[in-house]
Amino acid sequence: MADLKTRYMGLELKSPVIVASSDFTKNVESIRQCRDQGAGAVVLKSIFQEEFTARSIKAELESGYPQYAESFDYVEQMIADRGQDAYLALIREAKESVEIPVIASINAYSAKGWAEYARNVQEAGADALELNIALLPSAPDETSAEIEARYLEILRRVKKEISLPVALKIGPYFTSVFRIADKFSAEGAAALVLFNRFYPFDFDIDKIGLSYGGFLSTSAEMSHTLRWMALLYGIVESDLAAATGIHTGDDAVKQLLAGATTVQVCSTLYKNGLEHLKILNDNISGWMDKKGFASIDEFRGLLSKEKAHYPEEIERLQFMKALLDKDEGTRR
Ligand SMILES: Cc1cc2nc3c(=O)[nH]c(=O)nc-3n(C[C@H](O)[C@H](O)[C@H](O)COP(=O)(O)O)c2cc1C
Repeated sequence: MADLKTRYMGLELKSPVIVASSDFTKNVESIRQCRDQGAGAVVLKSIFQEEFTARSIKAELESGYPQYAESFDYVEQMIADRGQDAYLALIREAKESVEIPVIASINAYSAKGWAEYARNVQEAGADALELNIALLPSAPDETSAEIEARYLEILRRVKKEISLPVALKIGPYFTSVFRIADKFSAEGAAALVLFNRFYPFDFDIDKIGLSYGGFLSTSAEMSHTLRWMALLYGIVESDLAAATGIHTGDDAVKQLLAGATTVQVCSTLYKNGLEHLKILNDNISGWMDKKGFASIDEFRGLLSKEKAHYPEEIERLQFMKALLDKDEGTRR
């Protein structure tokens, strides 16, 4: 039987399949079920930076506007309700309950306010920290270099505080994913999670307002991640976690062939239940047995740009190949 063992950010995983940050990882009961069904690790539901910086925001407000000090009590209340204390308790409980790695997650937007929180996450026993950073360009005069600098500053600030491995979960919209991935790697990101999925932005024209829906992905959305796995494997030192659109065992095998260290799954578990984790693992090991691979290292990256010999095709963004094949077909 094929061995699914994998090292991710220096952690030993018994499977490369990780449950992505989601409602499945927001309480201990569900985290146990992820473990029971064969998850290699879990990424806890994110805490938002606003929640853990509430305490320092309050202090800042109080020092700037002492006359309003009392009215900032609601901020304190917010901390009590949903803030960092509950999150730190979740980390502790999860660590006591499961032996698989527990990766904490923060949805971050600025470099401010990290010191205390990052240290607390480490102290609570998390095995690693994933930073979900999604900065929407907000002003026409802000350059891409300035936006990239904001990402790097967050990473630096966190790395300064803790010795835990830090993963960065980023979206796909960079002019050069190569450049930014290389910079994150050089700054010591232990892993890059490629890519975060942004909810489809849409309008409801009956209600004349925003429409919410499509919050689950399909396998068709995996291709962008697959391309960048194949391009980055062997180029950056950070581990690579494939995310978005991985629904089947075949999808997972493809990402591993492209060079992913691990695959993160979420939508497929909403569609098929946590039992699907077991099916994913069985499908990956079934494929390995059929192809004669005893370990994942034997085939990881085989179809990456570095190992496969098709550099032109992999870099072609548009449909030249399809057009050429079509012409070829009509000539025959
Ligand atoms: C209901 C739901 C909640 C999520 N919550 C978080 C979150 O708290 N933090 C985060 O980084 N990603 C969150 N995500 C995004 C997932 O972790 C994942 O990156 C995304 O759904 C793409 O993967 P998929 O195609 O396997 O669903 C959430 C997704 C869903 C559907």
